[in-house]
Amino acid sequence: MAADIEQALLQQLADSADGSIPDSGDFATAVGQDHLKVVGIIKSLEAAEMITVEDISHSRFVLTSEAQAYLSAGSPEVQLFNAVPADGITLAQLKSQLPGDVSDVGFKQAMQQRWVALDKSAGEPRVVRKVDSVTDGAQAQLAAVAAGNELPKGEADALKKRKLIKLDTWKTYRVSKGAKFATQRKKQATELTSEMIASGSWRSEEFKPLNFNSLGLPPSGGHLHPLMKVRSQYRKIFVAMGFQEMPTNNYVESSFWNFDSLFQPQQHPARDAHDTFFLTSPAASDTFPEDYLARVKAVHEHGGHGSAGYGYCWKRSEAQKNLLRTHTTAVSSRMLYKLAQEGFKPAKYFSIDRVFRNEAVDRTHLAEFHQVEGLVCDRGLTLGHLIATLQEFFSRLGMKELRFKPAFNPYTEPSMEIFGYSSELGKWMEVGNSGMFRPEMLQPMGLPPDVNVIAWGLSLERPTMILYGIDNIRDLFGHKVSLSMVKSNPICRMGL
Ligand code: PHE
Repeated sequence: MAADIEQALLQQLADSADGSIPDSGDFATAVGQDHLKVVGIIKSLEAAEMITVEDISHSRFVLTSEAQAYLSAGSPEVQLFNAVPADGITLAQLKSQLPGDVSDVGFKQAMQQRWVALDKSAGEPRVVRKVDSVTDGAQAQLAAVAAGNELPKGEADALKKRKLIKLDTWKTYRVSKGAKFATQRKKQATELTSEMIASGSWRSEEFKPLNFNSLGLPPSGGHLHPLMKVRSQYRKIFVAMGFQEMPTNNYVESSFWNFDSLFQPQQHPARDAHDTFFLTSPAASDTFPEDYLARVKAVHEHGGHGSAGYGYCWKRSEAQKNLLRTHTTAVSSRMLYKLAQEGFKPAKYFSIDRVFRNEAVDRTHLAEFHQVEGLVCDRGLTLGHLIATLQEFFSRLGMKELRFKPAFNPYTEPSMEIFGYSSELGKWMEVGNSGMFRPEMLQPMGLPPDVNVIAWGLSLERPTMILYGIDNIRDLFGHKVSLSMVKSNPICRMGL
């Protein structure tokens, strides 16, 4: 084990007379370990300044693979000599008896040594012996190299030239005690702890150097839900068109702001518990701007500003009922009232937030969803302004073709449903609702009589489902949503 080798090395250093180990190669042999393993330990002890090291270069000749074959079969020149019979042989015949490289090299060498000659006197050249016997000097030299013996320089050079031996080089180390030498490696602390500070032990602690090049773990959190991605695209479009975001951070609202201020009659079916979630605790609100509340009551009961009103007895207790807001238009109403109080200035507002409706849940409906709402408040606005604004807004979403259908909202007149041609789905679809806020809503707030408000609203879920190809809303929102869908959904980019 590495720890044992390390221990043996440190102990040997401690025991040595001059505080050194002369050669790590010898040490590796002595402890019966691979030298490479010892080198790993040496490098790590050197980094910890426990030892210092000096390189020792080694080199020695080793046989090439070609030479390995000649070690047993004999050198090519001897193999060739042995293949020449006493009465000679034609060159062609001789070559056919030996492997190609052996006969080529062997013939050249044997000719140089004058062991054989080429007799051309009688027609076809014949190879004939010039000596009776030969000794295999090359084979003996190769055997000496293989045994680790050194050759005289001339012989070594000749074998090298014939590519029968090559120089092998390697390094070992002379190891000496370093500045922080100890027979036990001190464990370095990886972090400064509060205990070290409290006890003062940090003073004597040795700290592992920080590795500023290490890459760190990629964080695994932080994935945006598709609804949030689409929301940020809508937000960008509104901001690019000069709209300001309204504060929508109140899911709980009073009926007054959610319905009454919007001229929605107290008997309206939407105000039924079947359609709206009412709160049991706290069940009612009781602080309202009283003068405004009185004007709202008056307009519901007997109208004004050219309206006949609803002609019923308006109850404060009904307006006090708390609920989960059913639309973000409740926020728009608060903002327009505020604008009137602060002194009217033209304004463009938007909001994107959650609303709640007590509805039967199915593939496309949940009891809560997000509304996107925009409004423009200025003098002399007309239905033409509303249509142009909607064209601009939806074309920035990538929906260039719009159609409108008359509709009804208690708080807008005229009102229009908005249809857009979806190139994704290849058909016309309802994309939102819109209208001009009624004087019955705006006049009690105190806005100047020539001020109009154009407004529209749509859901965030519908376009998100279309963009992300989700056909069941429960796959988008709620407890059945798969987290991997949230992690892997693509970015959303709508043409601005
Ligand atoms: N509040 C409407 C809804 O809930 C949307 C809307 C907003 C309609 C503004 C007209 C004007 O559908």
